[in-house]
Amino acid sequence: MKRFLKWTGIIIGSIIVIAVVFYVIVYFSTQSRIDRMYNVDVQTLVVPGDSASYARGKYVAERRGCMGCHGENLGGGEVFLPPGSPVGTLIARNITSGKGGIQYSERDWIRLLRHGVNKKGKSAWFMPSQEVCHLSNQEMAALVCFLKQLPPVDSIMPEKEIKPLGRLLIFFDKFPLFPAELIDHHADYQDSIAPQVTPAYGAYLATSCQGCHSRTYKGNPPLVPGQPPVPDISSSGNVGQWSEAAFLTALRTGKKPDGTQMSDAMPWKYLPYTDDEYKALYAFLHQAQ
Ligand code: HEC
Ligand code: HEC
Repeated sequence: MKRFLKWTGIIIGSIIVIAVVFYVIVYFSTQSRIDRMYNVDVQTLVVPGDSASYARGKYVAERRGCMGCHGENLGGGEVFLPPGSPVGTLIARNITSGKGGIQYSERDWIRLLRHGVNKKGKSAWFMPSQEVCHLSNQEMAALVCFLKQLPPVDSIMPEKEIKPLGRLLIFFDKFPLFPAELIDHHADYQDSIAPQVTPAYGAYLATSCQGCHSRTYKGNPPLVPGQPPVPDISSSGNVGQWSEAAFLTALRTGKKPDGTQMSDAMPWKYLPYTDDEYKALYAFLHQAQ
């Protein structure tokens, strides 16, 4: 009996020691990614101030989902992890210059949007800069023109925080928290990109579908428990079989060619694209490998 207890004690003790050592590794590995400094060369762009550029910038912001996450007035919106969640606290915060917002220079905006790096030189958290870093110089400059002029909104939100469960998810690559790790910091960008009904322009727009449909467009498990899985929208999924007209109908009305209705998990009601933009998206996705 004594022997048995001794061995049980040794085994339990070892498991505890291993768990503690493992968590220490997880902690320091994730902390070094949180604290990593990115010394990026921030591109110099001439940011215009005219009303046409402002309007173009607003148009880009709508297409790239800024309002979808940060709220209609960009004073803060989507709560990804509410305070008290065992994963951490994460909110698409107030990005105006009001109370609880941010004080960003043109350089700061470009650093964040091109590199996913914030004013402190560290990666932002969960902010999908990897989906907008490729904007043409013209669209980027127009976007900054719009963002600089946002009317201040006062809205103070809880600070971001990551907890042990969140660290484990990051460690096992289940929670892509760091956009700066996903971006090529030496990439060159096109000066302008003409809106056209071509696969190339479709690919330019389609990065904004990646947050849900994945970087390869091959789909994802349900984003939230209880929702349908996110389907493959590349050539190997239904879109590879659909006609352009069927694609347009599905995205305008939510009705798929087989007569079924898409749920609200797919934000088709809120996507702002024109018919030509949908046609470009189709031209790209229909043949995307
Ligand atoms: C999928 C949702 C989502 C979308 C789309 C999105 N953001 Fe964010 N953004 C976030 C989250 C979450 C944070 C909080 C990050 C943090 O606190 O580090 C954030 C942070 C920011 C910050 C502050 C970064 C910092 O740490 O100083 C700025 C500025 C910002 N976003 C601008 C934008 C702009 C401009 C767009 C549109 C091009 C945009 N965001 C689109 C989710 C989003
Ligand atoms: C917020 C997450 C989200 C975003 C952003 C999003 N989708 Fe979806 N999409 C979904 C989900 C979830 C479904 C499945 C809906 C269902 O089955 O009820 C879906 C379904 C679809 C379908 C139907 C495919 C099929 O085989 O049934 C198409 C087509 C589609 N999305 C295209 C797009 C395009 C194009 C974009 C970008 C312009 C986009 N989606 C952006 C979540 C998203």
